[in-house]
Amino acid sequence: MDLPPIGLGTMGIEDPDVVETALDVGYRHLDTARIYGNERVVGEGLAASDVPRDEVLVATKLWIDDLAPGRVRAAAEESLDRLGLDRVDLCYVHRPRGEYDPAETLPALDDLVSDGLVDAVGLSNFTVDQLATAREHLDAPIAAHQVERHPLFAENDLLADARENGYPLVAYSPLAGGRVRELLEVQAVAEKHDVTPETAAIAWVVGTDGVVAIPKASSRAHLEANLAAANLDLDAEDRDRIASIDREEELFPE
Ligand SMILES: NC(=O)c1ccc[n+]([C@@H]2O[C@H](COP(=O)([O-])OP(=O)(O)OC[C@H]3O[C@@H](n4cnc5c(N)ncnc54)[C@H](OP(=O)(O)O)[C@@H]3O)[C@@H](O)[C@H]2O)c1
Repeated sequence: MDLPPIGLGTMGIEDPDVVETALDVGYRHLDTARIYGNERVVGEGLAASDVPRDEVLVATKLWIDDLAPGRVRAAAEESLDRLGLDRVDLCYVHRPRGEYDPAETLPALDDLVSDGLVDAVGLSNFTVDQLATAREHLDAPIAAHQVERHPLFAENDLLADARENGYPLVAYSPLAGGRVRELLEVQAVAEKHDVTPETAAIAWVVGTDGVVAIPKASSRAHLEANLAAANLDLDAEDRDRIASIDREEELFPE
């Protein structure tokens, strides 16, 4: 799937104006989920925007209690209803937990694709082994894998799987929920380029081949800065400096 380098993470966004502003400044990928409780907000922002629906990639996710085969279709229809859309571009399994059973859940997601409710199927928070099992049960190619990835946490076995199998890794919480500004290595790279730590962190995340990011932001200034961060080229020394942060601090463990 061809995703722009920067999309909008919408967890915590409760105002459609933020979504409308994001589209106005150039975002073309909106990431929501049933569990964020804001699919209506995202749909309203999209509907209010001048940007045509077919120019925007809308992704949502089925939560762990929506993954029983008899529930998948109704859950997807409810998400579409809240979004005010007749299809989404990407529908993820949010986590392989709860009602998730690869042999049952994934064929039900394939049916969403054949019935036109969903253009593509994504996975989120899978391990390499769980990805391999998913490939055995899913007819559709894995369109994207969404995982936590930022200077404090990056799992390179997942990146290797994405590259080997030809799907993008979608980095969530690329700003470590705002904590990147406290990291000395990120600050040093930011100072060198006269940018903010947030810009340096996003540039580091999306400067890795095969990785796109979905930072969440609320103000026009943050939205614009994060979109522009994809244009900052870090050199090998900068990249190594941030990669040298040897802390495995996962914000969203199982
Ligand atoms: N698949 C999953 O299981 C999963 C889990 C977690 C998150 N996600 C997705 O990933 C998205 C992003 O992750 P996240 O919301 O955890 O955190 P994040 O994007 O790492 O950080 C967001 C925080 O950084 C601030 N911020 C954004 N841009 C900034 C800038 N340029 N300068 C200074 N501060 C800035 C935001 O403040 P303001 O809002 O005030 O701008 C907000 O407090 C979520 O919205 C969601 O879509 C997915």
